[in-house]
Amino acid sequence: STGLKKGEFIASLDCGTTSTRFIIFDEYAKIVAVHQTEFEQITPHAGWHEQRPEDLVTATKTCIRRAVEKLEEKGWDKSSIKGMGITNQRETTVCWSRTTGKSLCNCIVWDDTRTTSVVRAFTHKLEEEGIEIDEEVDVDVEISHVEHAAAADGDTMGNGVREEAFAEHGEIQHGGGGRVMNMMGKAMQNLGLGGRGKPVIAKSRRKGMDGLVDITGIPLSTYFSAVKLRWMLDHYLEVREAHESDDLMFGTVDSWLVYNLTGAVEGGIHIMDVTNASRSLLMSIQDLTWHPPLLRFFEFRPSILPRIVSSSEVYAKISSEAETPLTGIPIAGIVGDQQAALVGNKCLKRGEAKNTYGTGSFVLFNTGEKVVRSQSGLISTVAFQTGPHARPVYALEGPIAVAGSAIKWLRDNVNLINDASEMDKLAGSVDHTGGVYFVTGFSGLLAPYWDQEATGALIGLTSYTTSAHIARATLEAMCFQTRAVLDVIEKESRQKLDTLKVDGGVTNSDLAMQIQADIGNFKVSRPAMRESTALGSALLAAHALGLFGWDLNRPETLSKVNTAGVDVFEPRLTDQERTRMYYGWDKAVERVRSWYT
Ligand code: G3P
Repeated sequence: STGLKKGEFIASLDCGTTSTRFIIFDEYAKIVAVHQTEFEQITPHAGWHEQRPEDLVTATKTCIRRAVEKLEEKGWDKSSIKGMGITNQRETTVCWSRTTGKSLCNCIVWDDTRTTSVVRAFTHKLEEEGIEIDEEVDVDVEISHVEHAAAADGDTMGNGVREEAFAEHGEIQHGGGGRVMNMMGKAMQNLGLGGRGKPVIAKSRRKGMDGLVDITGIPLSTYFSAVKLRWMLDHYLEVREAHESDDLMFGTVDSWLVYNLTGAVEGGIHIMDVTNASRSLLMSIQDLTWHPPLLRFFEFRPSILPRIVSSSEVYAKISSEAETPLTGIPIAGIVGDQQAALVGNKCLKRGEAKNTYGTGSFVLFNTGEKVVRSQSGLISTVAFQTGPHARPVYALEGPIAVAGSAIKWLRDNVNLINDASEMDKLAGSVDHTGGVYFVTGFSGLLAPYWDQEATGALIGLTSYTTSAHIARATLEAMCFQTRAVLDVIEKESRQKLDTLKVDGGVTNSDLAMQIQADIGNFKVSRPAMRESTALGSALLAAHALGLFGWDLNRPETLSKVNTAGVDVFEPRLTDQERTRMYYGWDKAVERVRSWYT
């Protein structure tokens, strides 16, 4: 025996945009050991952002090895680690070869905007050709509009019902697919097809962005994985050849890491968790399955796809091939990092929301077992699924591409500060920006503006402006965007937000959190233990393993988890000051919109 103590811990591998960490938690979610390492960010051209897939694997193995060493230095045997969860930067796309197990090109990272032309081309295709929809139609319905529907199109049952055929009915422009399908069902019934009570599959085409959003919950944007994969296929011969010979394996960072941890070519499994899959533009958000018409739309072969799995189940054990000290440990939770933070912040019930300020900033609002569609610029996403047979929980999300990365930009690109920790002192040395606004649209603007042609801009500069004003405007920028997203959530949910739960690296800044409360006019609640992302995937893994009695379907079982306390920041500005500041922000955003077109 090792002479080391035996306990029970759960671990989490968190592969974020700029760093990877491995954290070992106890049953109170206290951190027992942690190791973090950064990996190289490659920016070959303006708007491009890549990582080497093999670097992510190396960082993972280093973090596991060092964290386990630290655990042992504290006197614990590594067999105390009962399982691990994985959480990851989402949308970042990886392509590798089935034969060699090696990557075929660098990853295209989520905030990379090289794909604007792909988005333009497919937006056009969407408008011209639309998306094919296979839908089960229950024809056991009363007939009312049959004459309209059937008369509208001569080839109704031939090559599939064309949606335009129904345009004159007047319902199609407003109605969703279900309504159209009901009408089709009626038409079919009238034509003697199908038969009462027997569901039939009907084909239709939906034109424009709405059809795509209906199926996937998300719009065409440079942000999502399918667009990045399409770009790789169009620009890298090796990827194209692998695709044509069914040698290509596509995945997000979770898929790639699991494949490598479970043996790679020697039996590595090819999976993607449902939350990551919901960011691919290829999955039906209702059915949680790959949607064949979308594969046809983007021209992808089904052989490239991983198997979609829930966020909490034992997928496989770490293989000896992976050469880590944790051979045999079950991998039991996988979840995208923003969804992980929602879980880790214990926003498990409908109506609960959090914002994570990391590289970017992501508000997620739990909508329960229903997919809620936003009318004003939020996306619908899978929040988590607590087992293969569990009903999924959904969220509305407002992704903001730039938050902490703007501080990094001030440090690395314009040398305004030497270290991120200097921000509070510099920005706090003035109590306003002197009229300066910094629209941090480095990757275009995501929610709620969705303008990939927008750019970054510093505006309102005068000879009075100092570095302190610019630093303060940088913190304000992420708070204005967060407020813009929350305004939409409040409007659509018809609920006033009283308190926003926050986490992530940037929340270490007291000043930023105070500015957020001031601009948003809500309380900001920050937990003492801010590793909510890692904790979320650990919770999902422990849930699958039945560890510590943690049961995500019964939040009361988590009452002892992460109770280290919270800081609350209260709004202090007058309404008049707040309105004036926000008016300026809106004007600044207007100036940068469609900059490149
Ligand atoms: O969608 C991108 C997101 O998952 C990246 O998260 O924490 O690296 O900013 P983060």
